[in-house]
Amino acid sequence: MQLQQYSPQQEAQKELYDSQRGVLEEAVLYYRNHLLNNSEVLDYLHKKRGLTDTTIETFGLGYAPRGWENALKHFTDRGYSEQDLIDCGLLTLREGDDELGEMDNRKVYDRFRHRLMIPIRDERGRMAGFGARALEEDQVPKYLNSPQTALFDKGRLLYGLDRARKAIRSADQVVIVEGYLDVISPQQAGFENVVSPMGTALTENQMRLIKRFTRKIVMALDPDAAGQKAILRGLDAARQAMDREGELRFDARGLLRYEARLQADIRVASLPDGLDPDEVIARDPEEWAALIKAAKPIVTHVMETLAEGQDLDNPKTKSGIAAQVMPLIEDLPNPVERDSYRQQLARFLKVDERSLIGQQPQGPRVRRPKRRKDVESKQVEVQVIKTVSPSYQSETYCIGLLFRKPELLHRLDRQLQEAGLERILNEDFEYTDHQMLLDLIRASLEQDEQDHHQYIVDRIPETLQESAREMLNQTQQIDSLEERLIEDLQRSIIKLRRWGLNEVLNQLRFIFEEAQEQGDLRATAYQEQVLQHTKLLLDLDHAGSMLTQRKLE
Ligand code: UTP
Ligand code: MN
Repeated sequence: MQLQQYSPQQEAQKELYDSQRGVLEEAVLYYRNHLLNNSEVLDYLHKKRGLTDTTIETFGLGYAPRGWENALKHFTDRGYSEQDLIDCGLLTLREGDDELGEMDNRKVYDRFRHRLMIPIRDERGRMAGFGARALEEDQVPKYLNSPQTALFDKGRLLYGLDRARKAIRSADQVVIVEGYLDVISPQQAGFENVVSPMGTALTENQMRLIKRFTRKIVMALDPDAAGQKAILRGLDAARQAMDREGELRFDARGLLRYEARLQADIRVASLPDGLDPDEVIARDPEEWAALIKAAKPIVTHVMETLAEGQDLDNPKTKSGIAAQVMPLIEDLPNPVERDSYRQQLARFLKVDERSLIGQQPQGPRVRRPKRRKDVESKQVEVQVIKTVSPSYQSETYCIGLLFRKPELLHRLDRQLQEAGLERILNEDFEYTDHQMLLDLIRASLEQDEQDHHQYIVDRIPETLQESAREMLNQTQQIDSLEERLIEDLQRSIIKLRRWGLNEVLNQLRFIFEEAQEQGDLRATAYQEQVLQHTKLLLDLDHAGSMLTQRKLE
């Protein structure tokens, strides 16, 4: 073994991190003092969240007071520079032009105001940042985290790991949940092997981190979320829900890849409807233990979720489920495992195993992601997806509304453009039916002989009649306030665009990783594309938050 040598730069870097950690440790004490002096927030923690004083102490919970300059004053009085405080994420700097175009409009203020403070530490217990929960219903965002810094790298940290690591080792199992309080409650109830990511999808780095302690991973997921996110579009498995209300993002194929590559054993525990771990523990801690014990392998979980509420005697349903589960099975590197899952699927669907083998393409297995172009499998997929795909819901909602009130389209276009976004495009919708209806909606606005809605009704092609009727039914009880409708439309469109972009991004990432692994020269070009798409996603989020902010003002 070689002793690690540090270069002078590394030494300096290390010193910087140590001093930032020092500031954050002081901040923990600072927020804690404010909590101990605030009976209202203490009450919330005791009564609403069921936390004991010991737990509050153990997790170092705190309170950031109202006002814009409390931390600013406190810490600058103690000799810290504004820049240091900005660098470690306690203060926010807003810089640049104001609306009048005046420059040098520099403002520094407390990042965390009137929030419950949750210190986030790395696996060795060193401070990294904070998660801060809103204390009022209308406070957004609900959780405000430290900004991405060298210390606070969301993709590398797992909340609770410093406290959980011992239990994870001794139980030889880790349970991954979605939220900070979903870590705290089980730990308080004695189930200590629980960690969570910070509102983002699990990364390979986090998986590797866990692997140092155990290879047995249980994901505790909300059943609806898991169901939706288990939807696999042929080989385009990467479509993940990116909404911020989001539950732990569940991408079955991604997890299976981790599982194989890291030789982990990943299982999925379904939480009872509508409850998160925090609520399960409050209801009955024993229920938690039972749920975790009943966790199922990913493929089994996906199979069962897809089948839920479906008629398994219907041959179309069967082939739909098979078309979605088979790519997952074929992806498994171990042939014995593949055989065993194929048998399981055959038994589950009550079909002959050979008919499943017929489903897959002949020849050597291709492991690169590839869009499925063959019409046959597409049809099968669509008919299953119709009942479950998250984007389908948002699409029908948007198109249904616009079908009802075509005039809204112009206003929507204008507001999107004002926020720097494209107007509504056919590509925003994935389903051809919806694209066709959008064409009709636009056409209706380009004429004035006839009522817009009626114009569309008169021209709907036979094949779309039924789904159009369904959409009208679904949007029957819409809020009559046009402002509200526009807001809902904006939100849905942004969500759809985000899903689409994310799907592309995931595929690009996958292609890039593979290229990199194989020393393919195109890797750099792919990486460039990943960056470009990441930027698009950021721009979209930025525009999206501008739209919502304007609304709040
Ligand atoms: P949830 O909204 O499900 O909250 O977010 P929760 O954990 O159940 O919290 P309580 O019980 O309402 O207090 C789940 C997780 O997603 C991240 C946080 O890590 C949160 O714990 N999140 C959520 C964010 O990072 N930002 C947000 O705006 C919302
Ligand atoms: Mn919760």
